[in-house]
Amino acid sequence: MKAIAVHPGKPNSVHLQDIPEPSLDSISDGHGVLVKVLKVGVDATDKEINDALYGNAPPGFDYLVLGHESFGVVLEVGPKVTRVKPGDYVTATVRRPGGSIYDRIGTYDMTSEETYYERGINLLHGYLTEKFVDHEDYIVRVPSGLKHLHVLMEPMSCAAKAIQQAYEVQRRMRVWRPRTAFVMGAGQIGLLSTLALRLRGLQVFTMARSAPPTLSSSIVEGLEATYVSLSKTSVDEVVAKHGKADLIVDATGSSNVAFEMMRYLGHNGVLVWTSITGGERRSEVHSDKVNLEWVLGNKLLLGSVNANSEHFELGIRDLALGELTYPGVISRILTNPVAGLDQYREMMRLLVEDRSALKVYVDVASE
Ligand code: BGC
Ligand code: ZN
Repeated sequence: MKAIAVHPGKPNSVHLQDIPEPSLDSISDGHGVLVKVLKVGVDATDKEINDALYGNAPPGFDYLVLGHESFGVVLEVGPKVTRVKPGDYVTATVRRPGGSIYDRIGTYDMTSEETYYERGINLLHGYLTEKFVDHEDYIVRVPSGLKHLHVLMEPMSCAAKAIQQAYEVQRRMRVWRPRTAFVMGAGQIGLLSTLALRLRGLQVFTMARSAPPTLSSSIVEGLEATYVSLSKTSVDEVVAKHGKADLIVDATGSSNVAFEMMRYLGHNGVLVWTSITGGERRSEVHSDKVNLEWVLGNKLLLGSVNANSEHFELGIRDLALGELTYPGVISRILTNPVAGLDQYREMMRLLVEDRSALKVYVDVASE
């Protein structure tokens, strides 16, 4: 069957690869699930892998099948599977466990090992193909009423985890009632974080460079958050008017912004970093000021990668509630479908060149 793959380490090696059909028997304990792939989303990570900045092939292979944002329908299940049945819509988590204690209790996104395993990214093949098989532990059911949001399940899981982690660590405060959040970046993670924070009742300022009106700015407004164009208004001006933030989520992909934001966090607040930055950039920071303010203000910096199945479930709840609260807004993120695996060049072109493409995804098959 067909798959979109790269040769990791070789820049711009994206190609169509013939791979063997997966078999349910490859999961020997009876908990296997065979999924027909319907749609797969791509993002900056796929671009970085094709640029040979990131990612590794599975042992014994000279190629890596791309794709970590899956959406499909169950075709067949092993005899012991209880969580899903044929005909259910599903997505799948990205990371697979290594050997640490965190891996063994299902929190593989918190592995303490240096090597991590991620489908479509590192050491495991991804979902940009026609079918895949996995253990039911990594398969998450998508309610049929959300099937129009298909490939957003994985990005939403990353946003849901980042915010859940922030609330989790803030239990140190005994009482924490965050009121104001800044979300940096209005790409998919920025927008989905905006959604999750709005659903928790925060006043949200989502900041990005572009001057409105853009699709992102209108989605932000649709979520009843405030879009701030940093080409017109500075963060200092927002702070002068509304105060510092209790919670900041950085999803810009710019390490420079991630550090800069340390100046705008309020007392007892949390700054969450979510971007993977593959480069070698360095930047200057106001280190004395930040150091002083962070100690005097008990502030916290939190990195958040990826998600386990609990975060997928959390994210799916947010998407469901989001659809009821802000009908029709979230699906506007899904801007650029690509017709079939054969169109892999167009997929990369959109990802690399089209600044207006908020979300590129491949329509692999219809039901
Ligand atoms: C994916 C995550 C993954 C991360 C690092 C992101 O694009 O969405 O699931 O853990 O890249 O590899
Ligand atoms: Zn991703």
